[in-house]
Amino acid sequence: MIERVSVVGLGKLGACIAACAASRGMEVVGVDSNRRNVGLINDGQAPVVEPGLVEMIAANRVRLRATQDYSDAIMGSDLTLIVVPTPSDQDGRFSLAYVLDAAKSIGAALASKSDYHIVSVTSTVLPGSTQAAIVPTLERASGKKCGDAFGVCYNPEFIALGDVIRGLLKPDFVLIGESDTRCGGALERWYESFCENQPPVHRMNFVNAELTKIAVNTFVTTKITFANMLAAICEELPGGDIDVVTAALGADARIGRRYLTGALGYGGPCFPRDNQALAYIARALGCQAALAESTDRSNRTLLDRHVTRIKAAIAPQMTVGVLGVAYKPDTNVVEESQGLVIAQRLAQDGRQVVVFDPYANDSARRILNHSVQYAASLNECVRRCEALIVANPCREFRSLKAADIARRRRPLIVFDFWRILEEGFRHCEWIDYHAVGYGEADSARKARISSIWSSEK
Ligand SMILES: NC(=O)c1ccc[n+]([C@@H]2O[C@H](COP(=O)([O-])OP(=O)(O)OC[C@H]3O[C@@H](n4cnc5c(N)ncnc54)[C@H](O)[C@@H]3O)[C@@H](O)[C@H]2O)c1
Repeated sequence: MIERVSVVGLGKLGACIAACAASRGMEVVGVDSNRRNVGLINDGQAPVVEPGLVEMIAANRVRLRATQDYSDAIMGSDLTLIVVPTPSDQDGRFSLAYVLDAAKSIGAALASKSDYHIVSVTSTVLPGSTQAAIVPTLERASGKKCGDAFGVCYNPEFIALGDVIRGLLKPDFVLIGESDTRCGGALERWYESFCENQPPVHRMNFVNAELTKIAVNTFVTTKITFANMLAAICEELPGGDIDVVTAALGADARIGRRYLTGALGYGGPCFPRDNQALAYIARALGCQAALAESTDRSNRTLLDRHVTRIKAAIAPQMTVGVLGVAYKPDTNVVEESQGLVIAQRLAQDGRQVVVFDPYANDSARRILNHSVQYAASLNECVRRCEALIVANPCREFRSLKAADIARRRRPLIVFDFWRILEEGFRHCEWIDYHAVGYGEADSARKARISSIWSSEK
């Protein structure tokens, strides 16, 4: 049984894996090219923002340390997880530069290790990468054969930032691509002690695992976008209501309720790029990429539609508050965040914008700089604005009360993109409430739908 693990890359995912492994009683050594991350782990602190991580690192310091010395890490462990970035290029392809750098250093350390070792790639890579590039790099650097002195697995995680620790310890399933059954079997057994649940384990060759990883995220982006398309249709139907439609639609066991909301589009460091990567590999292999490409295009077009709607409803001189600039609640990550893009486009249009996010104000500041203002609290943001956009479904935003808005006796335009605000917002005389996915039964909408059927009369 593997009880000593090294984790290469102590970022958003790797730091959490290292802490979780230590919390499950394993001896963990982390490696990072960034000295700051190594120092923070050794000081018992978290190198990234993630709920529960600081506490977990502090509680397991005796079993968790970090180094910049690969040899120290490889000698002191039997399993090495590679969790370094694989940035996307213009075409949607993932770069292997950081993974191969790590593989060279791991291989060099393996050259002087006599015991069997497993190298497992957690970073998201494109189909074909592990066999064509990562295994040969390890073999060249170590002077040893994969399947003999060491084994290689491709073993991605399916987590969402803000929920990484639960996602790691209680996954829906474990995916293992393996060079041979020895390393695949050992990794499967390792997961038995790592996970708090007993997830099904799917073992396969590298290409199937590599494809499954990006296919999962692409399927979810397609589902999100399908619901967003329905929400746009509901808005044009007098009496249309996306919540009523998705509640019934999701009851079909073939479809399911999750990710079927009808709201702002998807963002973040994984969904958009995994979708584009699937389209890239399909095109590169001479296959149809239309579905993935269309999801990506729709995600952008629907955002343009929302921005146009917001601009039309809010007078240019009004101050606009944007609540939620992280791509989702409980994280400070603003990459591809729809809330951030809305704030940015409004500011570019010359609007006064005040943003608030309980986690992500500082991350937003690095991108938006002085083009917007930053509120220190939810109440301050609401107090300063005449129009309010709720851009992610953060728990804190749900605490807003229509009665408090009414008390200030000033009109407020509200765009509640996730429909999380209390019912009172729809009925308060001071609030002009807009939500995604509801079709007003107004005369223009009624006329449009009846004109479609006029020739049938
Ligand atoms: N963050 C997510 O939600 C998520 C989810 C699933 C998969 N992934 C995948 O996991 C991988 C890592 O993502 P992340 O979000 O943790 O990245 P990150 O940028 O937060 O962290 C990566 C870390 O790797 C370190 N690093 C880079 N090169 C290194 C090297 N040669 N040796 C040692 N350390 C090195 C960096 O200093 C950094 O601390 C990516 O392939 C990503 O696609 C991420």
